[in-house]
Amino acid sequence: MKETLQAVRGMNDTLPEDVFYWHQLEQALCDISNSFGYQEIRFPILEKTALFKRSIGEETDIVQKEMYTFEDRNGDSLTLRPEGTAACVRACLQHGLLHNQQQRLWYLGPMFRHERPQKGRYRQFYQFGVETFGYDSIDIELELLSMSYRLWQQLGLMEEASLHINTIGTLEERQQYQQALREYLERHQRSLDDDSLRRLEKNPLRILDTKNPQVQAILHEAPQLMDYLSSVSRSRFEALCEGLHALSIPYHVAPSLVRGLDYYSHTVFEWITDSLGAQGAICAGGRYDGLVAQIGNKEVPAAGFAMGLERLVLLLQAKGNCLADKRCDVYVLVDKTISGASVQLSVDRLRKALPQLSFVVDFSGASVKSQLKRADKTKATHALLFLADEFRQGLIGLKSLRVVGEQQWHRLEALSQELLVAEG
Ligand code: HAM
Repeated sequence: MKETLQAVRGMNDTLPEDVFYWHQLEQALCDISNSFGYQEIRFPILEKTALFKRSIGEETDIVQKEMYTFEDRNGDSLTLRPEGTAACVRACLQHGLLHNQQQRLWYLGPMFRHERPQKGRYRQFYQFGVETFGYDSIDIELELLSMSYRLWQQLGLMEEASLHINTIGTLEERQQYQQALREYLERHQRSLDDDSLRRLEKNPLRILDTKNPQVQAILHEAPQLMDYLSSVSRSRFEALCEGLHALSIPYHVAPSLVRGLDYYSHTVFEWITDSLGAQGAICAGGRYDGLVAQIGNKEVPAAGFAMGLERLVLLLQAKGNCLADKRCDVYVLVDKTISGASVQLSVDRLRKALPQLSFVVDFSGASVKSQLKRADKTKATHALLFLADEFRQGLIGLKSLRVVGEQQWHRLEALSQELLVAEG
C-alpha cells in the first residue's frame, strides 16, 4: 500500500473552521494600515541568498542554521525569505522608492525558517510587517508602537500583550561595548554553556538574552550596554520613554533585549504574551538606520516591526474572539423535481441584490425534511424553500431558522427586500 503523503513538518494547512480567525485578523491589519496611511508592498518569496546574509548578519541563528537555501537550475544560490525587512529594502531601492522620499509600507505573507517546530513556532509562518523609510526622529517609533497597541485594542488582546523596549545605540557604541563584554565573559569562560561559548567570539551581545540561569548570574556583574552609550543615544531613548508615557502605552525597559537580527540600531522592542508558553513574542522590531546603506549604498533612516500571525490566531482562538464566524446566512432547500439551473438563476439574482449575504444551495436531492435538518446544523439564519407546486406559481418560501414559525411565500422580486429586512 502506498504511504499517505503528509505536509512538510512545521508547515500548516489552514482549515475552513480556522480561516475565519485569519480573515478577521487580516481585515483588522488592513484597516489599521489604512487608518495610519501605510501602503501595501508585495515582493517575491525567493531572493538571492546574499541579500539575507548581508542584512540579517552572517553570524545570526537565522543565517547560520535556519534558512531554506538551495541552488536553482542556473546554479544561483536562492533562499526562501526568512523575514520581510531585507526584501522590502531591496525592492524599495530597486524601484527608486527611496529617492528623497519618505515611505510608510506594509506587507503580509509567508516566511520560512528551519527551526524546531512547536506550538507557535513553525517552519512556514505568516508575518504582517510594516517598514518606514526617511524618518529619523523618535516620532516614527512612537507611531509604530501606537499602531501595534491600537491593534491589540481592536482585537481584544490588550490584556495579553506587554511591551518590552530597549536601546542598543549606534554600531560604534555597540562595538565598544561588545569588546568590553567579551573581555568580561572570557574571564568566566568556564561557567558558560556551549551556546554562549559559540557566540562569544562572533556575537557576544546575543549572550545577553540567554535563558540559562547560570549564565544569567554571571551577566549580573557584566558591563552594561547603557554605560557605553553616548549622551545623544541615551537622551533619544529617554525621549522615547517619555513619549510612550504621554501616549499612555505601558512598557518595560528590558536591558537584555538585543534581538536576533544584526541590522538594528537605537530602539528595539518586542510585544510579549505569557499565554503562548516559550513562543511569547507576538510582534518585534525597531530602528535599522544602517541597513539601506548596507544593501544599497544609500543612507536612509528606517524603522519597522513584524508580527507572527499564527501566534495572534492562537490568542484569538483561546479567547474565542471571532466576530466573523459564519459560513452561510441563507440555506436554500430544493425539491428534487425542480431544475437546478432555474434555482441557480433565481439565487444568483438574490446574490446580486444582496452581495453582503452568503447563500448555500442544497443540491443533494434529499427529502425536504433532511435538507431542513442540514440547514439547522449550519449557522444560517434563514432558509429559502424551492418546492415544486409553489415554485410553479412563482413563489419561494422564506423561513427563519432561529425563530419558530411558518414560512412565508414571496415572489422573487419581493424576496430580496424581505430578506434584507429579516437579516437586519
Ligand atoms: P523576528 O523577531 O525575527 O523579526 O520576527 C517577528 C515576529 O515573527 C516574531 O515576534 C514572531 O511573532 C514571528 N515569528 C518569528 N519566527 C517565527 C516562527 N518560526 N514561527 C511563528 N512565528 C514566528 C523580524 O522578522 C524582523 N524582520 C522584524 C522587523 C521588521 N524589524 C524591523 N522591521
